[in-house]
Amino acid sequence: MPNPFFITTAIDYVNGSPHLGHAYEKILADAIARYHRKKGDSVFFLTGVDEHGQKVQRSAEKENLNVKHFCDIQTEKFVQLWNQLHISYDAFARTTHPSHIQYVREALQKLADKGLIYFKEHEGYYSLRQEQFVTEKDLVNGQWPEIYGEVIKTKEPNYFFKLSLFENWLKAYVHAHEEWLIPKSKRNELLGALEKPLSDLCISRPISRLSWGIPLPFDENYVTYVWFDALLNYVSFARAGSHNWWPAQLHVIGKDILIPAHTIYWPVMLQALELEQPHRFLIHGWWMNRGAKMSKSLGNYIDPIPYIQIYGADALRYYLLREMGLGQDADFTDEKIASRYASDLCNDLGNLVQRITAMIHKYRSGVIPSCSEKLMGEREKDLLNGMLLENYCLYFEKYDISMALQEVWQHMKKLNRYIDTTAPWTLAKNPKESQQLDCILFVCCACLKRYALLIDPVMPKTSDKILSLLNIGKENVPLYHAFYSLDLAGKTIQAPFPLFPRIPQQGNE
Ligand code: MSP
Repeated sequence: MPNPFFITTAIDYVNGSPHLGHAYEKILADAIARYHRKKGDSVFFLTGVDEHGQKVQRSAEKENLNVKHFCDIQTEKFVQLWNQLHISYDAFARTTHPSHIQYVREALQKLADKGLIYFKEHEGYYSLRQEQFVTEKDLVNGQWPEIYGEVIKTKEPNYFFKLSLFENWLKAYVHAHEEWLIPKSKRNELLGALEKPLSDLCISRPISRLSWGIPLPFDENYVTYVWFDALLNYVSFARAGSHNWWPAQLHVIGKDILIPAHTIYWPVMLQALELEQPHRFLIHGWWMNRGAKMSKSLGNYIDPIPYIQIYGADALRYYLLREMGLGQDADFTDEKIASRYASDLCNDLGNLVQRITAMIHKYRSGVIPSCSEKLMGEREKDLLNGMLLENYCLYFEKYDISMALQEVWQHMKKLNRYIDTTAPWTLAKNPKESQQLDCILFVCCACLKRYALLIDPVMPKTSDKILSLLNIGKENVPLYHAFYSLDLAGKTIQAPFPLFPRIPQQGNE
């Protein structure tokens, strides 16, 4: 039986259009999902949109649109962009979907029946941007930190979830699960946050203030707090036919929504609902624009579409995954994407493919020659038996995709040097060296096939192009087998063409 791999992303608020930060997260999760499919796992990849809440209601009002209609228009933008970026999700969550609404109401009723929800008068500060109550403890030098956006004072009776009852359970759970958060440094942040006593969670908003939400099953004058609604998407959309994929093997989220939403509210909600915990969280950093987090609220966000138009979806995917280290922040600049495109894609990968296919055409009429093991010297064996696959997989298993890519690119440099030093163009002049030349050309094609397999999770279309150039059909076999099977001799390959055309005037002007 293949291993199940249920992977989720955060669901994006639809109050604005999708930006590069949202795109990065979906690409990251997509590459991981594709890697697991290649490995032979049984993958279910869930992404989607978060449609309720004050922010969305306000944005719709500003545009004079019915809120659901506004959500439909906005959701379409996300769906379109994910199509352009080849995000291979299996299910798309919309929190306005009737089955989700029903699920959330049932979950609330269950908690109420268990005596875990109570009603009380509450006075407090409310952050519109984060859609949550904040307290004076959150002030920094007497000011609300930027991440809270506009904070308003409200006094209203509300429903509360008895989160505080679970404080000891949560601490024990986090202590017992050292591998729960990737990168590991996030664990200390969580343990630090758990040193403060947990307060109960306000899970309602009066309909008079916010109508755009899921009504509470036990009081229709209130709607559900947007985070309570949104988090449950991971379970409500985990069903495919009769199969329930919950628990998730991996939740991919940004660092801003780790604490308290995903590592305090979510585990406690699951525990209270008697559901299993997600196995792991992968917490990524932020894409910044000139040192500031790219966001809709700050208005400094970057639209991915012009970059897809200039460089293509695969190149943008490559740049984002290569440039951002595991859990780190990174600055997005026109110069950096242009330079990675020129050096890693045009010069390294593109040139190598062009160079090798051109030699096969020039010296072997377009047919990949064979090479017997006996003829292979140390250099050839080293190229073919290098630790490439194992190291690459180790990095991918740790979700360090930037390092996995570096592993492949280092090998490309080795192959380029090998071609330079063996100089096939000299050997081609001497018929006595024919077998040696066959061997070199065979090894080069074998390496290209392997690069195609290894870059597939990150650059699926480029991988397909290289494989079809080599006349290799999509093999539906696990990565390990495909990688080690080198059944290439005798294949007629296509005429060389540039995989990554040079872009004379680069930038997003
Ligand atoms: N709707 C909530 C998530 C609910 S999940 C049950 C939300 N939405 S969001 O649209 O604000 O953010 C969606 C995801 O995009 C989050 O994981 C967030 O960290 C990520 N990003 C938003 N801006 C980002 C960057 N500038 N860089 C990288 N990712 C960032 O929070």
